[in-house]
Amino acid sequence: LAVGNKGLRMRVSAPLRLSPDELHGSLQDPVLGSMMFLNEITKRYPDAISFAPGAPHPGQFDEIDVRTCVERFLAHLREDRGLDDRQARQLLCEYGPSRGIINDLVAAGLRRDHGLDITDSSVVITAGAQEAMFLALRVLNRTRDDVLAVVDPSYVGIIGAARLLDLPVVTVAETDHGPDLDHLEAVCRDVRSRGKRVRTLYVAPDFANPSGTLTDLPSRRRLLHLADQEDFILLEDTTYGFTASQWASLPMLKAMDANKRVVLLGTFSKVCLPGARVGYLVADQSVGDAGARRLLADEIATAKTMVTVNTSPIGQAVVGGMLLDRGGSLGALGAERMTLYRGNLSLLLDALDRNLRRPPHPPDVTWRRPAGGFFVRMRIPVAADPALLERSAAEHGVLWTPMAQFFVGDAGTHEIRLSCSYLDPHEIETGAARLAGFLGSL
Ligand SMILES: Cc1ncc(COP(=O)(O)O)c(C=O)c1O
Repeated sequence: LAVGNKGLRMRVSAPLRLSPDELHGSLQDPVLGSMMFLNEITKRYPDAISFAPGAPHPGQFDEIDVRTCVERFLAHLREDRGLDDRQARQLLCEYGPSRGIINDLVAAGLRRDHGLDITDSSVVITAGAQEAMFLALRVLNRTRDDVLAVVDPSYVGIIGAARLLDLPVVTVAETDHGPDLDHLEAVCRDVRSRGKRVRTLYVAPDFANPSGTLTDLPSRRRLLHLADQEDFILLEDTTYGFTASQWASLPMLKAMDANKRVVLLGTFSKVCLPGARVGYLVADQSVGDAGARRLLADEIATAKTMVTVNTSPIGQAVVGGMLLDRGGSLGALGAERMTLYRGNLSLLLDALDRNLRRPPHPPDVTWRRPAGGFFVRMRIPVAADPALLERSAAEHGVLWTPMAQFFVGDAGTHEIRLSCSYLDPHEIETGAARLAGFLGSL
């Protein structure tokens, strides 16, 4: 504003410049900037070996012929759903039902491979697990008295979604075999004493991102018991479950969910391709009177019409075609990838043993040995901040993720996350040697 010659305040014509303070507060939260920061530093050091991305191995895509997958799905629409050629193509090109077009395939895969007792109508296909988290949080939390509990550390996507939605978040400590359940009970009590309630608890029982922790069977049982006792809903993220060895995989919480306390969140990003942006959720809880027969999935699909409208039918066709090619088996898709990622993880752990268990690396570097998943959590003797990452990239050609970004509070400052998923064996070997050189220089 400027003051004119008659003393009137006039608006001066100039391009609008916004202050960050005028925008939603979450944008200034480091959680929201964390992914962009890593992408940006990766671009600046293209020759660095990156243990940062939790993305699937790019070689995986060589085996996927998108056109063939789509053709396979179109054939299914004609042969099994009775559509003519034009109707089938139209289904892929138009706006679609907000709940999705491959729900029956996903539900059948979950029934068959994971023993879930669910109907097709309890499934909503989402734009990745990220949208599933966002929608579940939006629909389940009514007011700011409804609190999200997360295991600390947790995947940034859930914390970021909560920030975007202005949801209060409380944290639960983690043990080597899952969430600290005594602490969880105490947190629920504490939240209740403040006139609020823990409404949802986000957990990733299978090789969580970023800690790699596997929640054991007794803890899974007690989690379900606590959900009943404390009256909260579990958001179970199954992203890395497919990396469990055939002999050691544990049942999903959803498979043990007698009282419908679990909303399941899943994704095809790691077993197929993240570019398809296809995930799903299972929400089989009843809403309203018995007569109304509405499910939570219906409410979530309604909310989705105001977010992404529907998940791209073309992306769904790609995933649907891949599933059909494997007789509808989700397990078969996962098993094909499991070997690659289990191999990479054991190569990384071996390479760390060989390179880091001898001088000159500092003796106070320690790391976990997860039994699956993509990630190894490592403790280092100095603060793992952006400046240290910059130095690691510039002077030693190796990138990693600072663990602090996965914590809600200020823990994790002296920890890094190493991901094995994106690299070839020789890169894992060279990367571990570079990391040893870097840690030795501290
Ligand atoms: C634990 C976890 N959940 C969800 C996601 C998001 O997956 P999507 O690509 O389906 O949004 C990721 C991605 O890295 C993840 O690590």
